[in-house]
Amino acid sequence: MAVTTPAKLDAHALRADFAYLEELVNGSPIAYLDSASSTQKPKQVLDAMREFYEHSYANIHRGVYRLAERATEGYEGARSKVAAFINAPSTREVIFTRNATEAINLVAYGWGLDNLGPGDVVIVSELEHHANLVPWQYIASRTGASVRAIPIDDLGELNLDVLDAIAREGNVKVVGVGLVSNTLGTINPVERIAAFAHAQGAILVVDAAQAAPHRAVDVQALGCDFLAFSSHKLCGPGGAGALWGKAELLEAMSPFNLGGSMIRSVALDKTTFNELPYKFEAGTQAIAEAYGFGVAIDYISEIGLPAIEAHEHELTAYALDKLAELDFIKVFGPPVERRAGIISFDVAGVHPHDVAQILDWEGIAVRAGHHCTQPLMTRLGVAATTRASFYLYSLPEEVDRLVAGLLKVKKSLG
Ligand SMILES: Cc1ncc(COP(=O)(O)O)c(C=O)c1O
Repeated sequence: MAVTTPAKLDAHALRADFAYLEELVNGSPIAYLDSASSTQKPKQVLDAMREFYEHSYANIHRGVYRLAERATEGYEGARSKVAAFINAPSTREVIFTRNATEAINLVAYGWGLDNLGPGDVVIVSELEHHANLVPWQYIASRTGASVRAIPIDDLGELNLDVLDAIAREGNVKVVGVGLVSNTLGTINPVERIAAFAHAQGAILVVDAAQAAPHRAVDVQALGCDFLAFSSHKLCGPGGAGALWGKAELLEAMSPFNLGGSMIRSVALDKTTFNELPYKFEAGTQAIAEAYGFGVAIDYISEIGLPAIEAHEHELTAYALDKLAELDFIKVFGPPVERRAGIISFDVAGVHPHDVAQILDWEGIAVRAGHHCTQPLMTRLGVAATTRASFYLYSLPEEVDRLVAGLLKVKKSLG
């Protein structure tokens, strides 16, 4: 069998696409190690959006004049790019949302309110971002369903052995899990979870916010029913995200937002709803942002997700090795083979906010806090962590600077 290694990306060369990465902070180039939170934007995306706003912008789907047609083509072209990016069987199954959070809320409200009730169980995990926990808690409280969480082991990996016991507690109707943990970088075995969910007759909702920007995501291979992700984490603009869902589920679902564009006909006493995907896109959409989302997909697809994944894997392996040499650092999460480019750690005796502050003086941007995963913080026994995360423009030199910065933290505060 031929072994293919992904083409390597040239992070130094790619940095020229990102204006901020050329800036100096206190005389040092910026080491932006917070891409899990949001990525920098390449000039290709920004230029395309400016061009779109200048020459192709009008409201979509309504106008018969040519500018409106051009705008509609740009918007619907982006939908086709999103569909191809995740191997969706049909563009009708791709709904533009503001972000991953709104995509998950759409499922929780649109599917959950009508289909959950007393005795039903929604399974999430201890790793979940609040975006894939709080909507389920809320809809469960409105419907009388309950929420159970798959616990993690000490490496931050899901303990799937508990699934059968949870299933005995009620009718499992929803399983909602992330593909990649935004705090620990854990890559979850979603295909196995899909098999469990479907054996229960449950739907599987996958939060791909931390996966889609970094590794190939194929909704058909995953076997999920819904999948959510955001543009701003994959070099695209804020204000755009996507929900993919199986057509038969979306068709049977109630709309989430109501008003203009999502209707077929309206009388004073009755409204019928538009076909997919428009039924879920009420009001004027973030048109240029959806367009920019499509351009960002082109940008990262051209670099190649296998190359991006391999680059981040190499950086993560390097960083884990380097951090392991520092006896005052405790790294949370799984070994590199089962981890994406995200590293959360504790610096002995120093609050993560102080760590991040001192690193900022060195021109190193990391995130400090609970990362919207408070139940996970409770499980880890900490209030917060410091988190470094990588993307296609991250460099090994930045890992070295992080390590040097942490030694300074220890010297000043440790
Ligand atoms: C795993 C995960 N899910 C969901 C979200 C929410 O994404 P957004 O804020 O773009 O809606 C995030 C954002 O950090 C995330 O990391």
